Amino acid sequence: MALCCIILLSLLGLVSSQAQYPDICLAKPKDIPLNPMCVYRKEVVEDEEQETKEASPPEKIPENTNPRVWELSKANSRFAMDFFKIVADSKTESENLFMSPLSISQAFTMAKLGACENTLKQLMEVFHFDEVSEKVSDQIHFFFAKLNCRLYRKANKSSELVSTNRLFGEKSLTFNQTYQDISEAVYGAKLWPLNFKEKAEESRKIINTWVANKTENKITDVIPEDAITADTIMVLVNVIYFKGLWDSKFDAMNTQNAAFHVPGKVEHCEVPTMYQEGKFHYYRDDAVQVLELPYKGNDISMVLVLPSDSTSLATVEKTLSLERFLEWTNNAEEVQLSVHLPRFRIDDSFSVKEKLGKMGLVDLFDPYNARLPGIVSGGRSDLYVSDAFHKAFLEVNEEGSEASAASTVLVTGRSFNPRRIIFRANKPFMVFIREVALNAIIFMGRVSNPGCN
Ligand SMILES: *[C@@H]1O[C@H](CO)[C@@H](O)[C@H](O)[C@H]1NC(C)=O
Ligand SMILES: *[C@@H]1O[C@H](CO)[C@@H](O)[C@H](O)[C@H]1NC(C)=O
Ligand SMILES: *[C@@H]1O[C@H](CO)[C@@H](O)[C@H](O)[C@H]1NC(C)=O
Repeated sequence: MALCCIILLSLLGLVSSQAQYPDICLAKPKDIPLNPMCVYRKEVVEDEEQETKEASPPEKIPENTNPRVWELSKANSRFAMDFFKIVADSKTESENLFMSPLSISQAFTMAKLGACENTLKQLMEVFHFDEVSEKVSDQIHFFFAKLNCRLYRKANKSSELVSTNRLFGEKSLTFNQTYQDISEAVYGAKLWPLNFKEKAEESRKIINTWVANKTENKITDVIPEDAITADTIMVLVNVIYFKGLWDSKFDAMNTQNAAFHVPGKVEHCEVPTMYQEGKFHYYRDDAVQVLELPYKGNDISMVLVLPSDSTSLATVEKTLSLERFLEWTNNAEEVQLSVHLPRFRIDDSFSVKEKLGKMGLVDLFDPYNARLPGIVSGGRSDLYVSDAFHKAFLEVNEEGSEASAASTVLVTGRSFNPRRIIFRANKPFMVFIREVALNAIIFMGRVSNPGCN
């Protein structure tokens, strides 16, 4: 029996700018034959398909966007919403939650590259890749690369989004060359041979050190003890970093302690709360207030979702869907308002195996049913994914999302306008970091406790 691990990581914080942009950003599908071992095609019922197509109005694709990349990005967002609900369900109301659904999709797409049969089918379904048109689903890896080009190749360095991938493989094995080639061309993930068989613990440290190095030591010990054994065949790593400065900074002079209501706590706690007045995109209905704060460059933004007084965050989370999210963001209008937002730092780590299992991704993790013949030469059928870890980190301060900021607590006079719209995040709220044009949800989470004990 052999093991194969997927390690997923994502981090929001300081960035080492080492992005490598492969030629694939300029390539056409025919230039790079990216044919994985197996292809999955959804069985379609002809008539029904016809009807649903006629029923839905034609969609507006963002400018300069490949329609296939758009479809893929939507599939990722659908997965993000599903997955968030599962994770939210596993936590209490007062616990923070933070993750990068995009990073999870990406790491599992690297596993999908070697998958066949039911394992492949479940991957396609859980990640909603089966809902994109046939051509996209056949060439998911190619379009994932194009999506990455769109996301990570930004002219403006004021906000920085970097993704790094790496495969670590048992050195005594020969990995399938096609698998390695596609993985390197598409994901920039080179294979690094390690001696898992004889030096499992040392290998774990090498990987953890590599990750720490890539994250300026913000994320350490991502792979827990004993997660790597002599049976480990391969470890897949995906790291996403983002560092952004607010387009409109909060003045540190205006930060002062204010009450925050953590669910289940009788006493309010005091947290440093930032304040500014300005024009922002804003949406409101009976259930929520939604505010979008752009980062410099205006291509990436933070979307804050605050439940109304009559609604609980749990209710908002339960009814969350891509459609609902688009309703909020597409209907937001620019208004003058005052923003009260806690300064906070949250991190989160969990195994995604059980959560994906609940969504129907079962065979990949099953020693007897997993089919990953495309990874090791000779098509071994005894590989499976033993576990998958995810770690994410977010720090928000006056400057943006950066790990610095001195905590000056000074009181200044605030102008009082009774009719002004107020967005006061003094109770649990949801947070999304998205690429605006593609609506790619890079990070999402919930802030239930911004630093109260
Ligand atoms: C490697 O994978 C490709 C398909 O991706 C397959 O055609 C080929 O036979 C595999 N090679 C070996 C040596 O298993
Ligand atoms: C990461 O490794 C490189 C090369 O070994 C080194 O130059 C760099 O200082 C390291 N960075 C950190 C944050 O440890
Ligand atoms: C980069 O940012 C500057 C200032 O924020 C802006 O004027 C410029 O148009 C941006 N360039 C691109 C390519 O987005």
